[in-house]
Amino acid sequence: MTYQQLKNSFLEYFEKQGHKVIGSASLIPDNDPTVLFTTAGMHPLVPYLMGEKHALGKRLASCQKCIRTSDIDEVGDGTHHTFFEMLGNWSLGDYFKKETIKFSWEFLTQVLKLDKDRIAISIFGGNSDVIDYDSESEKYWLELGLNKDRIAKVSENWWGPAGLSGPCGPDTEMFYWTGQDQAPKIFDPEDKKWVEIWNDVLMEYNKIAEGKFEKLKQKNVDTGMGLERTLAVLNNYDDNYLTELFQPIIKKIEDLSGKKYASDKKIFRIIADHIRSAVFIMGDPKGVGPSNKDQGYVLRRLIRRAIRYGKNLEIKNNFCLELAKIIIEKYKADYPELEKNQIFITTELEKEENKFQATLEKGLREFYKQKNIDGKIAFLLFSTYGFPLEMTEELAKENNIKINKTDFEAEFQKHQELSRTASVGMFKGGLVDDNYNTKRHHSAAHLLLEALRRVLGPHVEQKGSNINQERIRFDFSHNEKMSDEQKKQVEDIVNEQIKKALPVNCEEMPLAKAKEVGATGVFEHKYGDKVKVYSMGKSSSISSEIPFSREICGGPHVDNTKELISFKITKEESSSAGVRRIKAILGKNN
Ligand code: ALA
Repeated sequence: MTYQQLKNSFLEYFEKQGHKVIGSASLIPDNDPTVLFTTAGMHPLVPYLMGEKHALGKRLASCQKCIRTSDIDEVGDGTHHTFFEMLGNWSLGDYFKKETIKFSWEFLTQVLKLDKDRIAISIFGGNSDVIDYDSESEKYWLELGLNKDRIAKVSENWWGPAGLSGPCGPDTEMFYWTGQDQAPKIFDPEDKKWVEIWNDVLMEYNKIAEGKFEKLKQKNVDTGMGLERTLAVLNNYDDNYLTELFQPIIKKIEDLSGKKYASDKKIFRIIADHIRSAVFIMGDPKGVGPSNKDQGYVLRRLIRRAIRYGKNLEIKNNFCLELAKIIIEKYKADYPELEKNQIFITTELEKEENKFQATLEKGLREFYKQKNIDGKIAFLLFSTYGFPLEMTEELAKENNIKINKTDFEAEFQKHQELSRTASVGMFKGGLVDDNYNTKRHHSAAHLLLEALRRVLGPHVEQKGSNINQERIRFDFSHNEKMSDEQKKQVEDIVNEQIKKALPVNCEEMPLAKAKEVGATGVFEHKYGDKVKVYSMGKSSSISSEIPFSREICGGPHVDNTKELISFKITKEESSSAGVRRIKAILGKNN
């Protein structure tokens, strides 16, 4: 089965079961203060899992682009990636355990026709006296014909929340035997030849604090199937890099290096994985270039790590660009944004490679002079030779050189933004918080976008946002620093809309209609035909008067702009090439 066939058959199967197919959201999540990237298909759906109504109903399915940098150390084996695609189906307060288990089994065995004898299941094994083992899921699997020996009770089978709080629940995972031999009768989840391909999360809890859970308003299902892994097992590979998704990249690395994949698998995999992620980060509708901040820093790490490994293969010239072209070609039909942003991707990649190739050699020489790596040396390697902190750490480990982690971090603490991003916490998943003040800041972001477009011009597009109870952080496309005069104009326009006490309306309409009425927003939903449009000012359908702002957005928002009290820009700075960042706050609403 091909990549395209797998994707299509998944979405078609769930459509037949009454699901609406939605397009992949951006890799860079909105309104999530704790996370840099979309880490799962459920990520853009959090408000709906919490009870918000979705315009397309209660059954959804998608193929979502994901980045998980927390898995970076595992990349190099045959089944882990920093970027991957996740196929998923959701029930938003509709069906629950019985149906999702049936759907999963039917899809695996009847549509994909996977060998039943090579499938095993894990279910939630209970955690002491708090929540009991999931006997209900066990029952449904047994009813479908699974052998008891192939069902393992695992106490870690609990997924989420992605951040500190939010929807979560027990899960049941499906594994496939990738060994050449017959699958063992008894399922041992620790045996690496059993590869997890799909996870059904039975989401009925909301974690509110450490050890504290409450029942969600509704019972949801959130599933995630690893597309790369499933494609591999469907073609009898025990290595995702042997699939059509990676083979052209692997072959190109062989050509460029004169080395064989079989003899340097780990390095080949790291290079192919990292450049694929880099292409998707830069090519995203809210894409960024390499920088020392947030997503840009992660991107820099990925590219520079690939370049360093390229050196191990003794590749002589720049190579990232060659690989990027192959990746864009492979994915452009499904992700047209890659083609649209091709020039940005290739220019940024070239610049980054030129920059790093120029210092890498000298930096390595400096590194090998050291007996100990302290914070000062790490910082020198970073600032003079462009070695991301993690690279220095990795090199030290490989060469058995001692590092002093505390000292390391103390030195980087002095460089605030960087240390914040580099702290692992930011790379993990996270959730939108449902707080009223977060909602107020979210509504203010809509007014801000429109004000920016009026002051700076219609080229301004939202590139990302990070909103919490305290402030808005808003990234947008614009090439120059804003003058004090422009900032003042933007503040005045937003404050004027707050004073006018504009009603906030939400309408559901087909995507084409939303475009037609001039709603802003990232038109990334290739399939979903109904979207929510939030208007501030008069709603388009009840009056011919054009509202101040009209954006495609999942919400939630305040009811009236007067709730925002007042708006102030606290900072305007560069975020990455061609992208500016504004931080802003609101007056307190007591
Ligand atoms: N959200 C679940 C996962 O990522 C499905 O595994």
